[in-house]
Order: sequence, then structure tokens, then C-alpha cells
Amino acid sequence: ETGLITYDPGFVNTGSCCSRVTFINGEEGILRYRGYDIEDLAEKCEFIDVAYLLVHGALPTEDEHRKFSRLLNEHSMIHEDMRHHFSFYPERAHPMAVLSAMVVSLSTFYPELEEGWDEETDITVCRLLSKLRTIAAFSYKKFIGEPIVQPKAGLKYTENFLNMMFNSPVSEFEVDPIIARALNKLLILHADHEQNCSASVVRMVGSAEANLYASISAGICALWGPLHGGANQHVIEMLEYIRSEENGDVSKVLERAKDKSDPFRMMGFGHRVYKAYDPRARVAKRICREVLNHLGHEDPLLDIAVELEQAALEDEYFKERNLYPNVDFYTGLTYRAIGIPTNMFTVMFAIGRIPGWIAQWQEMREDPHSRIGRPRQVYIGPTSDETSPIQM
Ligand code: SDX
Repeated sequence: ETGLITYDPGFVNTGSCCSRVTFINGEEGILRYRGYDIEDLAEKCEFIDVAYLLVHGALPTEDEHRKFSRLLNEHSMIHEDMRHHFSFYPERAHPMAVLSAMVVSLSTFYPELEEGWDEETDITVCRLLSKLRTIAAFSYKKFIGEPIVQPKAGLKYTENFLNMMFNSPVSEFEVDPIIARALNKLLILHADHEQNCSASVVRMVGSAEANLYASISAGICALWGPLHGGANQHVIEMLEYIRSEENGDVSKVLERAKDKSDPFRMMGFGHRVYKAYDPRARVAKRICREVLNHLGHEDPLLDIAVELEQAALEDEYFKERNLYPNVDFYTGLTYRAIGIPTNMFTVMFAIGRIPGWIAQWQEMREDPHSRIGRPRQVYIGPTSDETSPIQM
């Protein structure tokens, strides 16, 4: 379960590899980061401590926490020249496109990776963790046409994010600690997930010795896909559709999901690895209820989601295929209750996933067996004698 078996280096970076970062038991719905259960971490830790755990392999001491927190604060602003990039994007630019472009641009402002970074000081890690959060909030402000709000010293990671997102020169916005705590837990749920599509991309790009910012920018693009991190946005659109077009009746969507002639899939359901309830979905559902109760919100989409889940879990098609809610099924409902727009949901996923991508990239780069990823294909095209002579 935890030991590193010997493996053919040829398989590293091309599909499956050994790792000490994250353990998943898909049959039993178990997820552990560096040996710690996801439920425990979400309940007891701060996101920045889990980020430290993923990158360094151990939870930080008090002193390490203080240093890490200070570095995150010191590196939370983006270069003034980077701010002007925002003005070149159209109003309706999807924040994931902005995020990927801005992250790869970080390598032009901070070329330390060309000389090989000094992870002891954690500057590169904190730069990415902190600036990505700032870029996300700035892209939201750009999207709504409001002036940006700079990061503020003394605020914790998620408190700073909420302040940059929702404060403005004319509002008396106060960060709600319950909401900041809920967001902290959601980021922990997303922090890593073994060799998923985007982590594979980060490893693959990194295996060519591309720098960390370029590798993570590629991972952000993979995560944007609706079958991957983009699903949380599509879950809300699916629930909205049920409410507005089906008058809240979930049966039609359930039938469409089972109809092989229909390309529609139940968003937020199913998983390549989990053939049991995704442990993150269970925590996300609890967080959703806690936030809605705390805010005194009644969201009809939550009732529809619970009803849709119940109907699917009782349905033969879903049971035969071990299809359960995954991490994306309930998270969007919480983001929505907090006031985060749907086109920012996958950005929230990316902010959470940064430490996992860094840990995976670092592990690959430190592995003496690591080689450039170079999967092969089985050629099934025309043979040379099936081609006619070229007449030019
Ligand atoms: C994430 O890999 C990770 O770890 C990803 C992730 C992470 O943290 O990085 O967990 C994050 O990406 C979660 C997944 C978010 N995506 C969605 O919710 C989109 C909807 N889900 C499906 O598209 C699908 O379940 C996938 C993409 C997640 C998995 O696709 P697979 O591996 O092709 O699914 P499968 O092989 O398990 O499918 C088995 C059967 C098939 O039917 P049959 O050919 O056997 O008849 O189940 C069907 C599939 O068609 N099926 C679904 C379905 N998911 C699978 N049918 C209807 N609705 C669905 N959602």
C-alpha cells in the first residue's frame, strides 16, 4: 500500500509510476496525502499546512508554519507590469485562459527556475501558491469591471482570497471566518489526486525539463476540460437546467445519462479510479450544508442535487457501473452560495491543486530514473505499398 515497488523506468512519466505523494484506494473510497486521511486533514489543518505536507512530505512545525506563512505573504503581489496583462483580455475572457497564460508568464518575471530553484527557501513554491490566488482574484475583478483589491498582510490564505474577491473601495466587506474555513477545507479536498489527467500533464511537460511555471500552466489547461476540473461548472449548469427546463424533475436527466445514443453524461458523477463514493464528495456535501445553514440560504439546486444523487444511487445502470458522486458534484453549490461565479469554479479547483502539481513535478524531477515522457503508439495506418507514387 505504501512501499515503493521497483519498476521499469521506461514506464515513468508515460502512464503509471511510483509515488510517495498520494494514496487512493478506489474500491474502498480512501484518499490519503502522505499517509494522512483526507477527512482528517480537511477537519484539522489549514490549507497552507497541507500544501507544505504535500511538497515536503511532513506537516510543518510551528516555526516552519510561520516561515511558510510569511513567505506566502511576501510573495502575494504580482509584478506591476503583470497587472497590465489583464487589460489585454476581452471582458468575457474565461478565467482559466487568463490563469494559464499568467502562470507561464511568471517565468519571465522570476527566471530563478532557469538556474534551478532553491526549494529549501520555499520561495518558488510560495510564489506560485500565493500569486496564483492573487491572479485568480484579479481576473474576477477584471471580469466584473471593478478595481482590483491588493493582498493584505495579516490575513490568512483563504481570508486574503475572499478579501481580494469581494472587498471594494465602496464596500464595508468583512471576511466571514466560517466561509474562510469552509473554503480552506475545499482547497484541501482538491490539493492532490495522484496521477489524474492534469498531474500527468504537469509531469509530462516537466519530464522534458521545462520549468515549473510552464509545467503548471499546461496542467491548468488540462484541468479546464469539462471531463476533468471543468465538471464543477457543468454540474451547476446541469442542475439549473433541471430546475428551469424540467421543473425540478430529475428523471429525464437520469434517462439521458443512460442513453448511449446521447453524448450527455451526468456531470459530477463517475470516476476513473473511485468505484465507491469519492471521500471528497462526502466532505464537500457536508461543507455545502454547513455554509448554506450559516448563510441562511435555501438553494433549490441543493435539493435537486440530493434528489438526483439518490435517484442515481438507486438506479441499476449507475449501480452496475459503480458510478457515485465525485469531488465536483457538491463543490459548485458552495462556491455559488459564497458568491463565486460559475466560470471561476475551475479556478478554485486549480488554486487547491497547485501544491499537488508542485509535489508531483518535484518528485519526478528528483527521481534519478526519471526520463522524458515518450509514450509509443501502435501504427494502424496505410503501409508503404498501399501508397501510390508521389507525382509533384
Ligand atoms: C475529476 O482522475 C482524477 O483523479 C480526476 C479528479 C481529480 O481530483 O483530479 O478526481 C477530478 O476530474 C473528477 C471527474 C469530473 N468529471 C465529471 O464529473 C464528468 C462526468 N464523469 C464522466 O465523464 C466520467 O465518469 C469520467 C470522465 C470522470 C470517467 O470516465 P471513464 O473513466 O471513461 O468512466 P468509466 O470507464 O468508469 O465508465 C464506465 C461506464 C461507461 O459506460 P459503459 O461503456 O460501461 O456502458 O460508466 C459510464 C461510461 O459511459 N459513465 C457514465 C458516467 N461516467 C461513466 N455514464 C453517465 N454519466 C457519467 N457521469
